[in-house]
Amino acid sequence: MTAAGRRVCVLGATGTIGRAAVQALVRRGHDVVCFVRPRAGVGGSLSPQDSMALLGGTTIRFVDVTDPASLARDGFQGERFDAVLSCMASRTGTPKDAWAIDYQAHANLLAAARDAGVGHFVLLSAICVQKPLLAFQHAKLAFEKALIESGMTYSIVRPTAFFKSLSGQIARVRAGKPFLVFGDGTLTACKPIADADLGDYLAGCLDDESRWNRVLPIGGPGDAITPRQQGEFLFALLGRPPRFRHVPVALFDVIIATLGALGRVAPSFAAKAELARIGRYYATESMLVLDPATGRYDAAATPSTGTETLFDFYKAIAAGAAPPERGDHAVF
Ligand SMILES: NC(=O)c1ccc[n+]([C@@H]2O[C@H](COP(=O)([O-])OP(=O)(O)OC[C@H]3O[C@@H](n4cnc5c(N)ncnc54)[C@H](OP(=O)(O)O)[C@@H]3O)[C@@H](O)[C@H]2O)c1
Repeated sequence: MTAAGRRVCVLGATGTIGRAAVQALVRRGHDVVCFVRPRAGVGGSLSPQDSMALLGGTTIRFVDVTDPASLARDGFQGERFDAVLSCMASRTGTPKDAWAIDYQAHANLLAAARDAGVGHFVLLSAICVQKPLLAFQHAKLAFEKALIESGMTYSIVRPTAFFKSLSGQIARVRAGKPFLVFGDGTLTACKPIADADLGDYLAGCLDDESRWNRVLPIGGPGDAITPRQQGEFLFALLGRPPRFRHVPVALFDVIIATLGALGRVAPSFAAKAELARIGRYYATESMLVLDPATGRYDAAATPSTGTETLFDFYKAIAAGAAPPERGDHAVF
């Protein structure tokens, strides 16, 4: 069946993947209404006019998603919608923000969406929730569970790593500095996915019935790659001899223990300790499907979509394209 021309409400439209999902929805002929904050973007850098320019071809409504009354009054406005697509997520990943946005704001949204007649909810989640050790992963899982149990048709998309999260060292390498890796640079691997490919996959959930009522791990095209391979490719691309600096994972343990102890006195240190835990997680866990039987990450079991590889992206930046906006919680 085709879902072209559906009325879709989008949350998180001003974020990295939200922007790409909006473009894909508009391209596919949907009627898109974005619920955004008056000050949006990294550090509130987007004015209302900036958001309107960014999200051309859509209707923009200014909504406070933390307030159920605002969702109904300013967002849905008593109108009917066919679907919700949410790429909304805490920008900081701290426990308080994660529970407020990744869980509670989504729970508010689900209730309001039901009142608006929404029949399908497409949720951008993350592949890392399959091994939940961090507050934001528990918050995401709690909402995934609420959505599944709601009875509404759902598509829960759990992508691997985004290009922006793997591009932070291009400037370092260009400046002649070594590429930083944890351990020997082969502790983890991922199948990176391009923003546009993921945006298209999310939008495609409305049309493709095989993605309904499913939890969908998804990566980009090609083989899984390690941080070491990313560094080697960058050095070759820039015509430099490879140079790596090895950072011990144990460094995180020291930082986490110190901030954790300070956090018992001052809460701001507890939030910083959680950010260090997030860093440690990504330094040691692969962004691939986890085989529950073996406890091993399995590249072959991780589905792929799209056409653009991380190395295509590195090549474009080396040729002069703008590097990505990396957001608030980048490690390197
Ligand atoms: N980075 C990775 O490699 C990776 C990999 C797999 C999965 N993921 C997951 O993918 C998701 C989205 O990632 P992304 O990079 O697209 O995120 P992002 O660029 O940080 O965008 C987050 C979006 O959520 C919105 N948001 C945050 N707090 C809000 C609030 N209080 N009220 C209203 N809107 C709020 C933001 O709006 P404003 O513009 O107003 O702030 C923005 O539109 C996250 O759940 C992340 O865990 C990430």
